[in-house]
Amino acid sequence: MINDLWYKNAVFYCLSVETYMDANGDGIGDFAGLMRRLDYLHGLGVTAVWLMPFQTSPWRDSGYDIADYYNVDSRFGTLGDFVEFTHAAKQRGIRVIIDLVVNHTSDEHPWFKEARADPSSRYRDWYIWSKKKPPNAQSGMVFPGVQKSTWTYDSVARQYYFHRFYDFQPDLNTSNPHVHAEILKIMGFWIQQGVSGFRMDAVPFVISTKGAKARKPAEQYDMLRSMREFLQWRQGDSIILAEANVLPETDMEYFGADGDRMQMMFNFQVNQHLFYALAASDWRPLAKALKATKPRPATAQWGLFLRNHDELDLGRLSPEHRKIVFDAFGPDPEMQLYQRGIRRRLAPMLEGDRRRIELAYSLMFTLPGTPVIRYGDEIGMGDDLSLRERTCARTPMQWSDEPRGGFTKSDKPVLPVITGGPFGYEHVNAAKQRRDANSMLNWTERIVRMRKEVPEIGWGDFEILQTRDTRVFAMRYDWRNNSVLFVHNLDSRPREIYLDPGIPGDAGQLLVNLLSDDHSRADENGKHRLLIEAYGYRWYRVGGLDYLLRRSDVESGVSR
Ligand code: NOJ
Ligand code: CA
Repeated sequence: MINDLWYKNAVFYCLSVETYMDANGDGIGDFAGLMRRLDYLHGLGVTAVWLMPFQTSPWRDSGYDIADYYNVDSRFGTLGDFVEFTHAAKQRGIRVIIDLVVNHTSDEHPWFKEARADPSSRYRDWYIWSKKKPPNAQSGMVFPGVQKSTWTYDSVARQYYFHRFYDFQPDLNTSNPHVHAEILKIMGFWIQQGVSGFRMDAVPFVISTKGAKARKPAEQYDMLRSMREFLQWRQGDSIILAEANVLPETDMEYFGADGDRMQMMFNFQVNQHLFYALAASDWRPLAKALKATKPRPATAQWGLFLRNHDELDLGRLSPEHRKIVFDAFGPDPEMQLYQRGIRRRLAPMLEGDRRRIELAYSLMFTLPGTPVIRYGDEIGMGDDLSLRERTCARTPMQWSDEPRGGFTKSDKPVLPVITGGPFGYEHVNAAKQRRDANSMLNWTERIVRMRKEVPEIGWGDFEILQTRDTRVFAMRYDWRNNSVLFVHNLDSRPREIYLDPGIPGDAGQLLVNLLSDDHSRADENGKHRLLIEAYGYRWYRVGGLDYLLRRSDVESGVSR
């Protein structure tokens, strides 16, 4: 049963081919280099890799500006190399999902070139045009402060074209049935090259009505169903993981009430409130976000993340809460971006404090959903704030203390390798951490391994427990006759709680610690007195370790 819906209990790892490993020595990561790191990924225990864009592109937005959907950018290799890679990943039981960037193309895509040059071209209507500058051209920018408008005059077409993102990313007219058919064709093509699905970029914008007349854009959710349907006809176990930073009340529109739309979505709501919890040492708003995002079809899953390749978007927090996170994790203007977020990596935000980094990751791994690790975070990589916008957190992977972190032999890496200082490759690198039993890397490996042994998190039902302490967060999952319980101390001081595991009968008497020998037995009231060190966390299994013998194929209603 568990394997059918593989994404329900998976561990994702996100990377960009460009900055992972350069095998041919031109300074740019490539598929041949990535292939050589597959055993590393396998050892880390991740079960799926999400590749950021690698298709032919002028690379003005890290590949989110595609000029040919049916090819690999020659800097990274060939389609042949790509298939070698998906095959090698498959041999190790690692699935590959790739970005599907179809809200817009590059302005260098032949479709756009033809569309602007020839009003009678079949591609003209693949984009969004307006003779006059629409009155709302100065609104709706996704990159405020950098992007000036959403409509730009094109002197060749002699019309304005719409772009939700940068001006070199003209929006596709996704309501045009020909465009829709082409999107399906793109999905079909990559499925055939061995991928298990897509991280779909900018979903709310893809399905939105567009154009000068669309004053109040509306989401066309039925598009999601037809994409999912097509994908599953072609390959039953492939998925779409949607990037949709939307309010909880529309979540079900994306998942589909019958579970017939997106299999997965990133949980932006939980992400932002998780950072608030870390900044304010207060779990209550996080609990609210968890409850608000709880309803979903049984086959649907949340993707949980701490940091990704974009800024940490805090736009959904109240102004007061946002300020608390900014003050704690990104006080300087150069750390902030687009008037709503923080562009740093996780480790520098948490001042390299192992206790807090572990706490953050332990939370991510135990909240309801499937964890998505950002490459480099497993060794605690830092950022380079001298690089523009979001590039600061996209520097090359630090493999060793060899020149340029072992990323490339070229002295001109595609982006500077972080050098010197507390996060420089000389200190922070995979090879060094491999040799240190207590390193972040080995910690991550252990936590990934344990997470996979706790399918209750991905599959079960959760309950937030009353700790009577706003700084100590506790939750329990129940699934197939078993329960697991997690406790996180968000405070910089040790805390003691008196916890009722909330399980009827005497099953909650024993809490077996999964990460250390510090087990807990209930007192005569059936409650547990737990002393948790500063930023400490506990993973408990309720009852004994014979849980696998107790696991049943059917839900008995009561757990244990
Ligand atoms: C969202 C991606 O995560 C981001 O990196 C990109 O710039 C935009 N979509 C545009 O494709
Ligand atoms: Ca290369």
